Amino acid sequence: MASCFQGWVVLLAMVVLALSTPCSHALRIVKTKTRTSVFVSPKFVLGPGSVADKYYYDIDFPRGHIAIKSFTAEVIDEEGNPIPLHETYLHHWVVEGYYGRVGSVEPEGTRAEELQRSDFIFVRNSGVCQRTLGQYFGLGSETRKTDTHVPDPFGIEVGNPAVTPAGYEERWMLNVHAIDTRGAENGLGCTECRCDLYNVSTDSRGRPLRPGYVGGLFCCYDGVQCRVKQGFNGVRRNLYLRYTVKWVDWSGSIVPVKIYIFDVTDKMNHSAGHAIEHECRVEYNVEESCSATSDGCFDSQSSLATMTTGGYVVYGVAHQHTGGIGSTLYGEDGRVLCSSIPIYGKGKEAGDEAGYIVGMSSCYPRPGSIRINDGETLTLVSNYSSTQTHTGVMGLFYILVADYLPTSSVLSFDTAL
Ligand SMILES: *[C@@H]1O[C@H](CO)[C@@H](O)[C@H](O)[C@H]1NC(C)=O
Ligand SMILES: *[C@@H]1O[C@H](CO)[C@@H](O)[C@H](O)[C@H]1NC(C)=O
Ligand SMILES: *[C@@H]1O[C@H](CO)[C@@H](O)[C@H](O)[C@H]1NC(C)=O
Repeated sequence: MASCFQGWVVLLAMVVLALSTPCSHALRIVKTKTRTSVFVSPKFVLGPGSVADKYYYDIDFPRGHIAIKSFTAEVIDEEGNPIPLHETYLHHWVVEGYYGRVGSVEPEGTRAEELQRSDFIFVRNSGVCQRTLGQYFGLGSETRKTDTHVPDPFGIEVGNPAVTPAGYEERWMLNVHAIDTRGAENGLGCTECRCDLYNVSTDSRGRPLRPGYVGGLFCCYDGVQCRVKQGFNGVRRNLYLRYTVKWVDWSGSIVPVKIYIFDVTDKMNHSAGHAIEHECRVEYNVEESCSATSDGCFDSQSSLATMTTGGYVVYGVAHQHTGGIGSTLYGEDGRVLCSSIPIYGKGKEAGDEAGYIVGMSSCYPRPGSIRINDGETLTLVSNYSSTQTHTGVMGLFYILVADYLPTSSVLSFDTAL
């Protein structure tokens, strides 16, 4: 049995879903070959207290008409060693697709909104936050222990030549935001981008911060410096984001999924007429507050968003920062679509750093069991502990939705595995 399976795996290099499946059964499956591509970003250099917020264009990425099955990433050093979050905090990484005009080159370091319009067309996800949060993939400190695989027979379709505008090619942009907290006077404060610790009073473009702005991305942009303990010495070092993409060649048996990202700061503006505006501010602050009447010290935020087109949820996960205690996406009737809970580390080593969110639990509903109706209004709830103030936290929710389900034979087969 075991050797039969090993031979099958080696020969066909296929992904095996369950080792308990009998060989005769497994050989009936027509499964496409899952490929794994591992890439390394351009180098960024960080010293104690410093910040890198880099935009890399036309990054290495699998090419062709394919379905993405998973995307993971981590920060490594020159030797390929994983770097723990208490040394280099990975605030976020984001991967966005775009169409670049053939022959055009994006100038290094330019922010997306500053690029030549005619050379650059963003490919955005299907979510409602259309000015921010257009990415296909993206996580933060939780990246090492968050399951991102797209279950069979679903996949995120990319590289379809039929939808690429003439004269353009599909490319990918990577934004990496990392903060070196070695020797920091207040490590959590640096990771929460507290403006006083960065001694910053203007944003990255030199514009004064709005009154009352005490922390968030406007205070921890590329090149600023967080306060470090006097006399602390640490070398500047070369770091990279290593990212792993699993994918299969596109085929008609793959069911495409759409990516939706919801934001708890979204203020859906109905007064803007039928074109409802979504203001997704991405970040918010949690004030220190403990109430004797409620169950103690916690902060709960919520937002609404209407899904014009519904479908079947096949995956869900939330994104929260330190202090987060869970997030849930509800349907209009109050049913739970997905609940995602942070996993905090307990030790020192990369992937298990105490005090940091090292993973988020994710949802894999049995296909067909969680359906969102066309026009349904969803509620997103994001909970944080408020035993202390937090600045620049996030409450995002990411779901993958299929328009239709695979034929029952494929489905029952999948669940049988
Ligand atoms: C903070 O910034 C101000 C003005 O930008 C500067 O004068 C001051 O020296 C800075 N303080 C520290 C501790 O770097
Ligand atoms: C909502 O949209 C309308 C029309 O675009 C605008 O005038 C108004 O300021 C918006 N409200 C908020 C709270 O942003
Ligand atoms: C968030 O807080 C609300 C309000 O107390 C509670 O009903 C809900 O169960 C909490 N959800 C999560 C995921 O923690």
